[in-house]
Amino acid sequence: MDAVVRACRTALARPGTVVALTGAGVSAESGVPTFRGKDGYWTIGAEEYHPQELATHDAFSRMPWDVWAWYLYRRSVCRDAEPNPAHRALVDWDTALGDRFALVTQNVDGLHRRAGSPDARLHEIHGDIDLMRCSRECTPERYAIPAIVPATPKSVPVAEAVRVHLHCPKCGAMARPHVLWFDESYDEPRYHLDTVRRLAAGAVLVVIAGTSAKTNLPWQVVSLAAQHGAAIVDINVEPNPFGDIAAESAGAIRAPAGEVLPELVRALIDV
Ligand code: OAD
Ligand code: ZN
Repeated sequence: MDAVVRACRTALARPGTVVALTGAGVSAESGVPTFRGKDGYWTIGAEEYHPQELATHDAFSRMPWDVWAWYLYRRSVCRDAEPNPAHRALVDWDTALGDRFALVTQNVDGLHRRAGSPDARLHEIHGDIDLMRCSRECTPERYAIPAIVPATPKSVPVAEAVRVHLHCPKCGAMARPHVLWFDESYDEPRYHLDTVRRLAAGAVLVVIAGTSAKTNLPWQVVSLAAQHGAAIVDINVEPNPFGDIAAESAGAIRAPAGEVLPELVRALIDV
């Protein structure tokens, strides 16, 4: 930890942005399953379908209500969860650094927002499970899933009375979850692609926490930042490709984010 703190202080002495990049591991201590872990969504599966099949536009076109059922169940898990010390530490860092700070998250669980990270500096690059948008994309507008849509303790069929609320308020077409699917691409209006790339290119420090480094935009973030000379830190309970990059840079810490982030942020704020 001491060497990482020293490397971060050196990086912070240079002008530039500080980017925190988070994945499912940051919410694991809040009880939200990860994707690729032992009890992960992609590992244990849904009852009838392999979940990676459900998280596609193709599946939504063929069986929209099965896809909705699975997302409404996952949404219930997220709503039951509470932010943990990792989320709160990132709020403290945001408060300390202000405009210099950016939080890029792959998580759709809303826990960073609920912990208090301000919208202006929170970039949800895979969407938000609490929001829906028009499946025909008649408008880029996102809508909160109506309060009348009930929590579901497991993936159960979506009742007719609920389905009517899962439609675009503007054109009446079916709504879809506001999440990025496997057969879709990042873009700026929905997933902040250009913003996040720009932040990465201007970063002096990137602190990665709780991701297995399996998705494309996080790779772009880390590569762009490293190319521009940023120091890279990785916090994860397991080895992962970002850890290898960080080990050659500011350092990799193999411990839970809920323990490491509060300690690291405290050490960096108290300078
Ligand atoms: P993964 O499930 O792939 O990886 C979770 C990572 O968190 C693993 O590397 C774990 O070792 C680590 N981890 C678990 N508990 C931790 C803890 N307490 N502290 C620190 N690290 C911990 O999740 P992501 O990398 O976030 O995308 O997955 C990225 C994307 O893949 C997701 O956003 C989702 C999925 O497909 C979409 O749905 C578009
Ligand atoms: Zn519409």
